[in-house]
Amino acid sequence: MALTYHQTKLVKNTIPVLREHGERISTIFYRTMLTEHPELNDYFNGVNLKNGRQPRALTAVILNFAANINNISELIPKFERMCNKHCSLGIKPEHYDVVGKYLIQAFGEVLGPAMTPEVLAAWTKAYWVLAKMLIGREQQLYKDFEAWSAWRPFKIDRVVQETDDVHSFYLVPQDGRRLPKYQPGQYVSVQIQVPGGYLQSRQYSLSDAWSEKHYRISVKRDEGSQYSNSVSKSYQNPGIVSNILINYMKVGSVLSISHPAGEFFLDTANDSNVPLVLISAGIGITPMISITNTVLLTQPGRQISFIHGSRRTIPFEEHIAQLRRKNANFHSKVFKSHPSDGDRPGSSYDYDCRLDLAKLSDLDLFLHNSGAEYYICGPEQFMVDSSAYLVSRGVHRSRIKIELFTTGELAAKQG
Ligand SMILES: Cc1cc2nc3c(=O)[nH]c(=O)nc-3n(C[C@H](O)[C@H](O)[C@H](O)COP(=O)(O)OP(=O)(O)OC[C@H]3O[C@@H](n4cnc5c(N)ncnc54)[C@H](O)[C@@H]3O)c2cc1C
Ligand code: HEM
Repeated sequence: MALTYHQTKLVKNTIPVLREHGERISTIFYRTMLTEHPELNDYFNGVNLKNGRQPRALTAVILNFAANINNISELIPKFERMCNKHCSLGIKPEHYDVVGKYLIQAFGEVLGPAMTPEVLAAWTKAYWVLAKMLIGREQQLYKDFEAWSAWRPFKIDRVVQETDDVHSFYLVPQDGRRLPKYQPGQYVSVQIQVPGGYLQSRQYSLSDAWSEKHYRISVKRDEGSQYSNSVSKSYQNPGIVSNILINYMKVGSVLSISHPAGEFFLDTANDSNVPLVLISAGIGITPMISITNTVLLTQPGRQISFIHGSRRTIPFEEHIAQLRRKNANFHSKVFKSHPSDGDRPGSSYDYDCRLDLAKLSDLDLFLHNSGAEYYICGPEQFMVDSSAYLVSRGVHRSRIKIELFTTGELAAKQG
C-alpha cells in the first residue's frame, strides 16, 4: 500500500539526518545483520563490505528512493543493475525481511528519539514499497532464467593463457544440457569456497559470442596494491577469487556458475545497424570481445570501431589483429602505455601511450553519425573521462553505456 501524504512527510523529514550519518548506518546495519545471520556472509563480497562500497551503495539507493518517493518512475531504470546483480547471486524474497529489519533498526539507532512509532511505521512502509518493486523485477528475471536459478556446476574444459595475467576459462555444464543464450556484454557470477572462510562470488563478463556447449570467461589476476622499497616490490592484499581461479583451477575442476545476467549489453533482438564504438581499458576488454564476436557473426556488415588500451600486453591481441585483416567493417585502434622493448606501433597496436580519445579522429569515433552507440568499460576514472569527452563532442548521454567492474555507482560524476 502507498504511503499517505503525512507518512511521506515523516520519511522525508528524517532523510537529511540519515544522509549525514550514512556511514554510521551502514556500519551498524551490516555489523548487526551479519552477526545475527552469519550465513549471509556467503552472499556478500567481503572486500566490498570492508571498504564500505556495498553498504554505501545500498544506503544511498534507499535514501534516494525515499527522497523521490513521489516520482519513482525516473528511478526504475536504475534498479536494473542491482536486480540483475541480486539474481546472479541467488537473492530471494525472504532475504528482504532480514535486510529490512536490520536496516530500519540502524535508522532507529541514528535517529534516536526522533524514530517515533509513527516514523518507524512510515519508514517500514517506504522500505517495503522499494523492496516489492525489486522483488517483482527479480522474479521476472528468475522466470527468464527458467530452471537455472541457483548455482550450476560447470567443469573447466580448457584454460588459455591470454597474457601474463589474464587466463580464459572454457566452462562446460556438468549436466551436459544446452546452455541458454545471453546478450553479449552480460556476465556470470562465479562462486568459490575460500579456504577457511565463507563462499565468495565475483562477476566475470562472458568473453565470447554465445555457444550452446560452453561459456568462456577471461580472468585477470588481481595482484593487490603494489608497494616498493629501495630493495624490492611487493603486493598487499592479493585478490581472493581471481588468484584462486588462476592458481588452483585447472582443466577438470568444477566451478559453481550463475545464469548470465547484467544490464550492460548489446540488445541482439534489436536489428538496428547503427555503428558501435567499443571503448575499453585493461580487462574491460572482455565484454567488448563478446559484443564484437557476436556482431561479426550475426550482423556481418555492421560498423564496429574497437578502441582499446592496455599497459604492456593486450588480451586477445592476435584475435583483434585477425579481425582487422578479415573484416572491412571492423576498425581498431589499440594503445599500449608501456610497450616492451622492441614493440613498435604499426603491427598489432597503434599508439604507444595511454588510451586518449582526443588522439582519435572523428571518423574513428563515428562522431558524424548521430545514432552511433558507445560502450565503455575500464577503470572508473577512465570511464568518467571517456564519457565526458564524448559528451563534449556532442554525443548524447543516452547513447553511452558504461560497465563498472565493481559494486555501486561511479565514484566521480560523469561530465
Ligand atoms: C559486471 C562485472 C564484470 C566483471 N568482469 C570481469 C572480467 O571479465 N574479468 C575480470 O578479470 N574481472 C571482471 N570483473 C571483476 C571481478 O568480478 C573481480 O572483482 C576481480 O576478479 C577481483 O576479484 P578478487 O576476488 O580477485 O579480488 P578481491 O579479493 O575482491 O579484491 C579486490 C581488490 O581489493 C583489494 N583489497 C582487498 N582487501 C583489501 C584491504 N584490506 N585493503 C586494501 N585493499 C584491499 C585487493 O588488493 C584487490 O585489488 C567484473 C566485475 C563486475 C562487477
Ligand atoms: C531494498 C533492498 C535493497 C537494496 C536497495 C539493495 C541495493 C543494492 C545495490 C545498490 C547493490 C549494488 C549493485 C551493483 O552496483 O552492482 C546491491 C548489491 C548486492 N546486494 Fe542488495 N539491495 C537490497 C536488498 C538486498 C538483499 C535482501 C540482499 C540479500 C541478503 C542483498 C544482497 C546484495 C549482495 C550480495 C550484493 C552484491 C554485493 C557486492 O558484489 O559487493 N541486497 N544491492
